[in-house]
Amino acid sequence: MIRHAFLTFSILISAAVLGEGATPAYKPTEVFLFNCGATSDKIDDSGRNWTVENRKILPSNSENASFLADASYQESGVPQVPYMEARIFRSDFTYSFPVTPGWKFLRLYFYPTKYGSYAADSFFSVTVNSFTLLQNFSAHLTVNASKSKSLIKEFIIPVKQTMNLTFKPSLNSLAFVNGVEIVSMPDGFYSKGGFDDNLINVGREVDFKINNSTAFETFHRRNIGGQMVPGVSDTGMFRPWFPDEDYEVEGVVVSVPDAKINYTDKTPAYVAPEDVYATSRSMGLLNKDPSLNLQRNMTWHFTVDAEYTYLVRLHFFETTLEVNGINQRVFSIFIGKQEAMKEMDVIRLSGGSQNPVYIDFRVSVGSENGMRPDLRLDLHPLADTGASVY
Ligand SMILES: *[C@@H]1O[C@H](CO)[C@@H](O)[C@H](O)[C@H]1NC(C)=O
Ligand SMILES: *[C@@H]1O[C@H](CO)[C@@H](O)[C@H](O)[C@H]1NC(C)=O
Ligand SMILES: *[C@@H]1O[C@H](CO)[C@@H](O)[C@H](O)[C@H]1NC(C)=O
Ligand SMILES: *[C@@H]1O[C@H](CO)[C@@H](O)[C@H](O)[C@H]1NC(C)=O
Ligand SMILES: *[C@@H]1O[C@H](CO)[C@@H](O)[C@H](O)[C@H]1NC(C)=O
Ligand SMILES: *[C@@H]1O[C@H](CO)[C@@H](O)[C@H](O)[C@H]1NC(C)=O
Ligand SMILES: *[C@@H]1O[C@H](CO)[C@@H](O)[C@H](O)[C@H]1NC(C)=O
Ligand SMILES: *[C@@H]1O[C@H](CO)[C@@H](O)[C@H](O)[C@H]1NC(C)=O
Ligand SMILES: *[C@@H]1O[C@H](CO)[C@@H](O)[C@H](O)[C@H]1NC(C)=O
Repeated sequence: MIRHAFLTFSILISAAVLGEGATPAYKPTEVFLFNCGATSDKIDDSGRNWTVENRKILPSNSENASFLADASYQESGVPQVPYMEARIFRSDFTYSFPVTPGWKFLRLYFYPTKYGSYAADSFFSVTVNSFTLLQNFSAHLTVNASKSKSLIKEFIIPVKQTMNLTFKPSLNSLAFVNGVEIVSMPDGFYSKGGFDDNLINVGREVDFKINNSTAFETFHRRNIGGQMVPGVSDTGMFRPWFPDEDYEVEGVVVSVPDAKINYTDKTPAYVAPEDVYATSRSMGLLNKDPSLNLQRNMTWHFTVDAEYTYLVRLHFFETTLEVNGINQRVFSIFIGKQEAMKEMDVIRLSGGSQNPVYIDFRVSVGSENGMRPDLRLDLHPLADTGASVY
């Protein structure tokens, strides 16, 4: 499985998110929202309809292998739907979701709390078809190590026709889940490469393509320099985009109101919402001594799991008014301390000062720095080409 990190860079800030009633850029052909363990359909805080698990998706041993339970508490910050009800698994349990061929987002929702006498602190595994998504997983430990009380695990799974989603409790243990979401996506969206259909292999000469049997787990999806963009404000795929403020990156957020994002055939509007392209972080110091920037990097540290390969997708949009032509702002991109792209010129690449672009990189992360290392992203201004903005 390839793990991936989505990062976004762009210039300027806007508070605009997709408004009520606006048409999303991508209209998913399939959206399933199952409120596991619930006995009636419920609407969540964002207005989405979570339905009960219908008989068609449940296995024949459903009643013996599982039971329904209500959460004993609702801690602050934990939404009612889908977290207040759960299906608890005593033994292996397989949901069968009939879907059309292609990659699907699979999002699993967990709220580890007390469900009657079950404390939801047990270990379990989750598979879908031939992919192991979670192994000896504890939602309780995962949440305990984070700031949030509930968690969403997001995967991108290639499917032929059925998604068999199996929960396997570890020995003398139970498994549980609160909600299951399945959403379709444009064909090949994470496998074909970036805006130019190219996947850049960092630190390797070999040409590598992602084939139709690769599954992904989302590790980070960040709206750099911007605010939280909730799933309902995404361009049709319900991807949540989190701010990057917790990375304490040196640099400034540049703000120009009313960004006009000129989506193109190569970067269509579904790739990322306007709000993601319309916010960014840059090195700043423009009025003091910009050449000092040549001695610095702008750096993010993204915690990942060792021994996986990552797809890193970077989004760029140049709207600083003074930067409106090629060879004005050029910089280098390093991923995992390796040069990933020597000359990044957003306007040259995108073909216009108001066009967004996104680039995909592939990088392998070994275990020489432990099992939870940081994948480092560095941006460094490049003066070699005569660019004037550092
Ligand atoms: C929620 O979805 C179910 C199943 O599609 C449907 O029967 C129900 O009317 C929907 N509820 C609302 C409030 O839209
Ligand atoms: C449930 O378990 C009982 C007792 O072990 C067994 O008799 C019954 O056939 C099982 N039902 C199903 C649907 O597996
Ligand atoms: C992958 O699947 C798509 C259909 O979803 C198909 O168009 C494409 O040719 C396949 N690519 C490979 C390399 O098999
Ligand atoms: C899903 O499970 C059903 C029933 O066990 C089986 O017939 C089918 O082949 C499975 N599909 C996949 C893709 O594993
Ligand atoms: C699962 O993880 C826990 C905690 O890390 C460990 O104690 C346990 O032995 C593991 N179980 C298996 C089957 O790997
Ligand atoms: C949860 O985290 C706290 C502090 O971060 C730690 O003291 C405690 O041992 C953790 N609990 C478990 C079950 O790991
Ligand atoms: C897909 O790529 C993997 C290696 O990345 C390879 O092992 C596998 O055989 C390929 N599958 C197909 C159907 O080409
Ligand atoms: C938008 O992009 C297209 C395709 O690159 C280009 O033809 C057009 O001039 C651009 N429009 C603006 C306003 O930049
Ligand atoms: C920028 O990052 C790269 C890759 O991590 C590193 O080799 C280089 O020394 C850094 N430059 C500065 C000025 O920190």
